[in-house]
Amino acid sequence: MCGIAGYVGPRKESVRLVLDNLKRLEYRGYDSAGVAVATSAGVRVLKKEGKLGNLVGALGDLATASGTVIAHTRWATHGRPSDQNAHPHTDCDGKIALIHNGIVENYLELKEKLLADGHKFASDTDTEVLVHLIESEYRVLGDMEQAVRSALRKVTGAYAICVVSEYEPGTIYAAKTASPLILGLGDGENFLASDIPAIMRHTRRVIVMEDGDFAKITAGGVILTDLESRPIDRKEFAVTWDVHTAEKGGYPHFMLKEIHEQPKTIRDTLRGRVTDEGQIVFPDFRLSPARLLDFNRIFIVACGTAYHAGMVGKSFFEHLLRRPVEVQVASEFRYSDPLVDSKTLAIIISQSGETADTLAALREAKAKGATTLAIVNVVGSSIAREADEVLYTYAGPEICVASTKAYVTQLVSLYLFGLYIAQQENKLSKDIVASYVEDLLAIPDKMAGVLADTKAVEKIALRLSNTSSCFFFLGRGLDFAVSMEGALKMKEISYIHAEAYPAGELKHGPLALVEPGVTVVCLATQSALYDKMLSNVKEVKAREGIAVAVVKENDQGLDERSVDAVLTVPSTRHDVLMPILAIVPLQLLAYYIASDLGREIDQPRNLAKSVTVE
Ligand code: AGP
Repeated sequence: MCGIAGYVGPRKESVRLVLDNLKRLEYRGYDSAGVAVATSAGVRVLKKEGKLGNLVGALGDLATASGTVIAHTRWATHGRPSDQNAHPHTDCDGKIALIHNGIVENYLELKEKLLADGHKFASDTDTEVLVHLIESEYRVLGDMEQAVRSALRKVTGAYAICVVSEYEPGTIYAAKTASPLILGLGDGENFLASDIPAIMRHTRRVIVMEDGDFAKITAGGVILTDLESRPIDRKEFAVTWDVHTAEKGGYPHFMLKEIHEQPKTIRDTLRGRVTDEGQIVFPDFRLSPARLLDFNRIFIVACGTAYHAGMVGKSFFEHLLRRPVEVQVASEFRYSDPLVDSKTLAIIISQSGETADTLAALREAKAKGATTLAIVNVVGSSIAREADEVLYTYAGPEICVASTKAYVTQLVSLYLFGLYIAQQENKLSKDIVASYVEDLLAIPDKMAGVLADTKAVEKIALRLSNTSSCFFFLGRGLDFAVSMEGALKMKEISYIHAEAYPAGELKHGPLALVEPGVTVVCLATQSALYDKMLSNVKEVKAREGIAVAVVKENDQGLDERSVDAVLTVPSTRHDVLMPILAIVPLQLLAYYIASDLGREIDQPRNLAKSVTVE
């Protein structure tokens, strides 16, 4: 999730103006930043690794430069953070500059053709192929607008791009598919950005570009069409938010914004990893399948939410591959003298890629000869750099300390990797794999359906926030793994004690604590264990506990007569995929209870987003 900002108009020192605008997008992540300014004298580009301040400090005379400006803060997805991987990227002659937010799925094949045509690449990003593609088209067409259109027709993936050139220094070409881009309309000047906070100080007149939109932006106006040049009519609207609300996309907290981003982050994490033929592919993997899969034992190691994702991964791998998988918290693994050798595959999961215990566990596994695969969200993080192989989640920067979108993208990555192993080892028929893939691809829309109407869970949260002295989260099998994550969310942000238990353990002790005021959330999404969960619900109700059931749609066994509240989620053909959907009502329940209690949701007391100390 990168930050984009642009300006075309008569203002002096427009470079400084755009970089000020970009600063308001720093919550979108930054590991490098860059700016391009186009004038009749040509295109000038400056880009630096690190925070935006590094770039500003290196501007020199660019600090007071004017012209048509585009600027970018990068959240790396392909190619580690560095000066040369920062955007803008330029064509071979430095006459065209481009910035991009998204993923070019077919960049490897495009790059091969462009290299064969003699193009020289300066970075190892997917983005750079776009500007060379435009250059290649411009050489043939001699027209910038047609060159950009023609180049984009050859691209598959997600993009929000802005292009300036010395051929048309008073114009920005922009296009949007799957990544956000908005236009700010001024009087004799126009702005563009990834998000509204960047331009609010200059104009409240906004057009939100939609997928497939193509814009030609000059000081005099904006022409919106589709890629085939057919005119498009997008209504402008007046922004009424304050800046802080705008940074959260209109949501009161980053946590709620990130919960609602989950369908998109799942699409982004799936993108480019499932071929039309239903094959699971990881184009960026460096290790061959033979090398990566030469193991007879799997360890999954992580902390906190990532550990809970690992619990789901264990169940899925064992279900699919029928091989033993161990999952351990990193702080235990690293001191347990683990039974790891050269035939071990150690899967290390970490959103930040910097958690001290997890990094130490990675090093311990490597020292014992394991092959290490990292599942991380931050490109270039310590764990990403030190692992033998990396499977990135594309959740974008997760600002809220309580992890939500990172968790679901970790699950998706584990499901993909499990299917990848099964395919490589011919463990599953093509049809079976196809059925899992079909279910996975359908999940973002199903999740969006749950998020489209959260009134039921908000109502339940209001009922519970002042009546629940403590929470139990119960589940069996995969529902227990999800219960662990649901309990952590509740603890982290509401400060109400919450504990997850395998439901079958209730009568082995915890039942003694069930009494009026104790809320027991019972997950019942695993069909094979459903009847057992019904008995647990009855045990809770018999002790006058508050029972909240999480069930699949069309459930017949649990309703308001048998429990105090029911949270329903869409079903999938394969119950093993239910954790991705079942976690959403638990995230929302914790959020709305914490919100009702007035908690500091995005930065809960005593906690840090990345625990880089032991
Ligand atoms: C999750 O909501 C917590 N913020 C915490 O448990 C977190 O998952 C844990 O610290 C691991 O962080 P990582 O994924 O960045 O390694």
